[in-house]
Amino acid sequence: MPEPAARLSQLPTYVFALIGERVRQMASQGIDVVRLDIGSPDMPPPDFVVEKLAQAARNKNNHGYSDYKGTPDFRAAVAEHYRKCFNVELNPDTEVLPLLGSKEGIVNLALTYLGSGDVALIPEIGYPSYTMGARLAGGDIHYVTMNADTDFLPDLDSIPQDVAERAKILWVNYPNNPTGAIATLDFYQRAVDYCKKHDILLASDNPYIDIVYDGQPSISALQANNAKEHTVEFFSLSKSYNMAGWRIGAAVGSAAALKNLLKVKSNMDSGHFKAVYEAGIAALAQTRDEWAAERNRIYQSRRDRIMAALPEIGLRGYNPKGALYVWTEAVDGNAAQYLEDALCIAHVVLAPGTAYGPTGEQFVRFGLTAKDERLDEALERLKKWYKSK
Ligand SMILES: Cc1ncc(COP(=O)(O)O)c(C=O)c1O
Repeated sequence: MPEPAARLSQLPTYVFALIGERVRQMASQGIDVVRLDIGSPDMPPPDFVVEKLAQAARNKNNHGYSDYKGTPDFRAAVAEHYRKCFNVELNPDTEVLPLLGSKEGIVNLALTYLGSGDVALIPEIGYPSYTMGARLAGGDIHYVTMNADTDFLPDLDSIPQDVAERAKILWVNYPNNPTGAIATLDFYQRAVDYCKKHDILLASDNPYIDIVYDGQPSISALQANNAKEHTVEFFSLSKSYNMAGWRIGAAVGSAAALKNLLKVKSNMDSGHFKAVYEAGIAALAQTRDEWAAERNRIYQSRRDRIMAALPEIGLRGYNPKGALYVWTEAVDGNAAQYLEDALCIAHVVLAPGTAYGPTGEQFVRFGLTAKDERLDEALERLKKWYKSK
């Protein structure tokens, strides 16, 4: 067999694939492991969305290739959603581009804008695909300071001038995975102004846009003044509608950026199964305030249970204002040992902070997507193990 391309050596095996393998091995030995490491919604999409999929799948005309830009009706539904929820006007033909989930768009945006010598500005704590996309594209990475002292917002003033000059993309993600921080409109305005000044594309990765707690607002980066020209936002139905396995989302914003992104995408993939677009339209069209409020109430009660348990299990946490995670630190400073013992002794899997960037070493991430009984079981196991240490 030939050696794979050199670029593969830049990519670690995806952390959740490694964890999944260990859990499978333990399960084959009869060990019941509770997984609190991932962010795959445990609740189903609304029934009528599933019904729509089933009905649309029976339509004999729905099985061929669909357009690289998806269907006009789906694009229009996304534009209408942005108008209704965020008061942002989008041209469905030029400012909405359907994606096979936002992860695909994130990596393809890197391939679209980064080459040798180009820089991606990536918050030092963040979703791994920003880094992996930049590496695959052969671009350089500059990690932007982001920590509790900056309210988990990237410190734009810390970016050296010469780096800003070479930068093509600035990644932001609020509500944030993994810290649960949210952004204000004021922050988005500063990010848009910064990107305009330095001719950078603001990439707002926003799959948790409406998963917020304690009455926090749901904000799009496109609400900032004059944002559209320099901003692409990644919107996804994965978490907002519990449709993670359906792989449907959209990039919205700058028409020029979406045209370039389409050039890459259309050489890599095709449009979605038309039935999925139809079900997506049904999801976006629902009067969803009550449904979304109930979903957020369930996640918030899980968050509260985790936050209440932390003092008894050797962790200190940051109360999340949104997204599906609780970001914690091991009080003894040894997160690696904590994760190993939690898995091997308490049989609870948590996500390692190291997966989220160069400063993640002392952190441990909890997901809010385990069923209530499993979450309670996990917290009891951790308490028992920690007490017996
Ligand atoms: C911050 C962030 N961006 C993007 C994604 C990918 O989402 P999608 O299912 O839309 O590809 C995730 C998934 O967990 C995420 O946490």
